[in-house]
Amino acid sequence: MAAHRQLHLNVNVLATGRHNAAWRHASTPKSVSDIQHFIDIAKVAERGTFDAIFFADHQALDDVAAFRPWHALDPSVLISAISQATTYIGLVATSSTTVEEPFHVARKVATIDHVSHGRAALNYVTSQQDSIARNFGYEHLPAHAERYRRATEFVEVVLKLWDSWSDDAVLADVQSGRYVDFQRVRPIAHKGEFFSVAGALNVPRPPQGRPVLVHAGDSSESRNIGARFADAIFTVQRTFDEARAFYQDYHARARGFGRTEPLPLILPGLYPVIAGTAAEARARKDEFDSLLDPTEELAKLAGRFNYKVERLVLDKPLPDDILDHILPTVNRGFLENLVREARREKLTLREVLGRNPIGGHRLIVGGPDEIADEIAYWFNNHAADGFNLNFDAYPSGLELFVEHVVPVLRRHGIFRREYTGTTLRDHLGLARPASHIRAREAELIHEAANRKEIIMTVINNPRTEPTETLSLATPATIAPGDLRAIALSGAELAVVDVREGDAYVAAGHISIAVELPLSELELKAYDLLPRRSVPLVVVDDDGASLAPLAARRLADIGYTDVRVLEGGLAGWQQAGFPLITGQHALSKALGEVVERRDHTPRITAEQLRARFAAGEDFVVLDTRPLEEFNYLSIPDGIAAPGAELLHRVFDAVPSPTTPIVVNCAGRTRAIIGAQALINAGVPNPIVSLENGTAAWLFAGLTPARGAAREAPRPSAEGLAKAKEAQQRLAKRFGISPLSPEALAGFRAEVETRTLYLFDIRTGEEFAAGHLAGSRHVPGGQLVQNTDRFVGSRQGRIVLVDDTDLVRATISASWLLQLGHNEVHVYPATPAELSETGSVAPLLPNLPQPAAAISPLALSRLVAGGGATVLDLDPIAPYHQVRRYIPGSLVARRATLPQRLTAVPGAGPIVLTSKDGALARLAAADLHGLTEREVRVLEGGTDAWIGAALGFHSGSGQPALDPSETVPPPQTLEQRRAYFDAYVAWGHTIGAELERDGLVQFRHYPE
Ligand SMILES: Cc1cc2nc3c(=O)[nH]c(=O)nc-3n(C[C@H](O)[C@H](O)[C@H](O)COP(=O)(O)O)c2cc1C
Repeated sequence: MAAHRQLHLNVNVLATGRHNAAWRHASTPKSVSDIQHFIDIAKVAERGTFDAIFFADHQALDDVAAFRPWHALDPSVLISAISQATTYIGLVATSSTTVEEPFHVARKVATIDHVSHGRAALNYVTSQQDSIARNFGYEHLPAHAERYRRATEFVEVVLKLWDSWSDDAVLADVQSGRYVDFQRVRPIAHKGEFFSVAGALNVPRPPQGRPVLVHAGDSSESRNIGARFADAIFTVQRTFDEARAFYQDYHARARGFGRTEPLPLILPGLYPVIAGTAAEARARKDEFDSLLDPTEELAKLAGRFNYKVERLVLDKPLPDDILDHILPTVNRGFLENLVREARREKLTLREVLGRNPIGGHRLIVGGPDEIADEIAYWFNNHAADGFNLNFDAYPSGLELFVEHVVPVLRRHGIFRREYTGTTLRDHLGLARPASHIRAREAELIHEAANRKEIIMTVINNPRTEPTETLSLATPATIAPGDLRAIALSGAELAVVDVREGDAYVAAGHISIAVELPLSELELKAYDLLPRRSVPLVVVDDDGASLAPLAARRLADIGYTDVRVLEGGLAGWQQAGFPLITGQHALSKALGEVVERRDHTPRITAEQLRARFAAGEDFVVLDTRPLEEFNYLSIPDGIAAPGAELLHRVFDAVPSPTTPIVVNCAGRTRAIIGAQALINAGVPNPIVSLENGTAAWLFAGLTPARGAAREAPRPSAEGLAKAKEAQQRLAKRFGISPLSPEALAGFRAEVETRTLYLFDIRTGEEFAAGHLAGSRHVPGGQLVQNTDRFVGSRQGRIVLVDDTDLVRATISASWLLQLGHNEVHVYPATPAELSETGSVAPLLPNLPQPAAAISPLALSRLVAGGGATVLDLDPIAPYHQVRRYIPGSLVARRATLPQRLTAVPGAGPIVLTSKDGALARLAAADLHGLTEREVRVLEGGTDAWIGAALGFHSGSGQPALDPSETVPPPQTLEQRRAYFDAYVAWGHTIGAELERDGLVQFRHYPE
């Protein structure tokens, strides 16, 4: 990077010149298609040590060609030719993301980068004229929003294609005869809304890694897509204040997308008319202007504004309603800037015509010092990092600038005296992005996939390229094969799936991945992944849409070893590796495997009903948490949640001959519960209710609602029996208590090995006294929803219990069967259980909201129709009823920045979530993205409800985006269909996991 900030100058070439009459002055009036003309311009710019020569584009022949040269030659072909006659100057060509294809453009620009030895840049624009559409098979261009959605995906694909080769993939090994090493070239397997591109690119990695990206546009959508991807921005501000505001807005947006220095370079257009002195410059301008027909120019201006030319009078000001008729396809930014300027300076139309109204960019006429001072002022005061310079006539205007202005800028110390590098990235002070394919690693894995010592080398040196060379905007990546090899090696590794909605459950996920939706990332990460240095792999659909941002956010909150899975799940599947579906799939799969393997006895709902009817003596024990049990259960059930089942069974069912039916909502907890009692040697006849409470409902039987009967805490006698059972389990599963010294040792190693310290007793016991640093997770839920609590499968799990260890041992027996390697039980003495109260989730520092609003103030604002409330709470589990602020809209944090323009109303946007934490994060994301005021409801929706301001409940809450709506409750038929699919899933999941091979359930024969 340059040691100090440097001015950047491009020459923006419009054939013979920006002035409409320039061609009438030129020595080569037909220069529009004369390559030598363009080469001459580039050489002058290179003599002036300009950064780049820039070509806009318009892929249609418009009427303007009747009076002046236009964008005739294809700019990419043009810069290719120019590259052969120059050495240093950067080469920027424009492509339209609306009508072109990303593969074609990525290939073309990569080719130019090779041909020019690293000087290519792509200016990606969305285009606006329908005359272009008609050359590509459409009547009109798509609407603005669609153009930008397409543009976003377009650039993503281009970047993926440029990144699809490692730097060293071309071997050209004459000895071995191998040309390209396909281990170092990766397909991109992109499937999106607009494009389906298999990849890889058929051009080797470009010399600049990624050629430079430039973007031109003005609207909020344009600023977002520029702030997200571009290295430099070509823009239109005509005054210093507008330019400074634009500059600041852009930087805020870029930071909002997780970017750090270098932020996009802001290069407004500027049209200097220059000569040796100010008087000569004015004379030059007058001379050019005299060749124009003012009536003709007036007609063009009227056309631009879609305004009746008869209503425009040359020596009068612009009419008041001149902005009212602009066609929606035209860029308003240019025209609004112009009108503001004319009104501010009280210009007549004739004067406006003298200021480049059609070209749009700011025109200044002056001598060398005047122009250099103006440029330096904007640059030094951060209204611009440089300029895209338009000259009245080429090459003469540029020659005058190079001769007179460039030396002044050099004297100011802001512009280079000579080139210090050879690539455009060098000129712009941009590092070359490292290859995303770590070739050596791929090679090692490939050659010795089964040799642990080599895999360990890779694991110990996970980055064969220094990460410092990667800008934060492009997190490190890992190839699917490498991820799999590390997972199989047994080294510690956490895979987090950051997709939103039900993609993880329904579309499928990597078997060892845990769910960490992007929206809730900061709220859940610390508890799920307590070790900040854990090797972390972030997964999304394609490796580009969510994962890079998630990786940056993880890095921001302290994680030090974060990589993105290359190609995401598409890449994973493309490499031949499977996905599994289902929520808490491993825990549920264990239930299925166990039922078949251990022949866990079961009865159907009908059989249970018959037993009820016959008045038989039996007890139904329900293993779910009380809240869920309370929502819906079987008549006469008794709650004995999770690990409490063994703890309390001897008191709940005193006679050893009374049959016990174990129940839950569906399948897993009933199977695991029943089998747990059997494994523990409980003498009673034990069965699980097949398909649990769901089966009861589907059989048309009446369930219980609001049931509250709980199995009593164990008596001394009950506990003695439970303790005997614990010893049987401990023996069979090889579980022995952890000593205090060993626990202290684990605590000392938390920087190198993850430690989960879970207290598996009841919430009340935990609150009354617990071990410092432990977290409360009921044992049953820990087994049933392990992926909610344990992000690293190779982490150490320590279950803290009373000294009897009944609940810890039964829970540990299942975690071991789930395949976790290091599961320990810790008998805490009463003296050690010294911390009291509940423990809130561990959170990073949350951003302070720009402005909070109290529930009362919000209620007043809403009553006056002055605010739009967005509710960011994710969809709650089935047994929790959603409560929300009347009139609020469901929104999702991860997609809100893109949906901002769809937020109704014009007043403040108020964000809420259950306790306000998620709303604060979302508010921080929106910083600089909207001109509307963004506020956060103090204390969130809970505070609103607590303030008795009225709430709605249920599923009727409307959504900002209909695809993110809270689903209505399922009908019985829908639930039955869902359940049938789940039962079918249970039949195949065991075999699928065997094929997958990343998770090994363990069997401990009696
Ligand atoms: C400075 C500037 C240069 C542009 N150059 C081109 C161009 O060369 N080719 C093109 O098709 N569109 C060009 N555009 C138009 C944009 O692609 C876009 O369609 C237009 O600005 C409207 O979108 P917006 O309202 O988001 O800015 C340019 C726009 C600006 C502001």
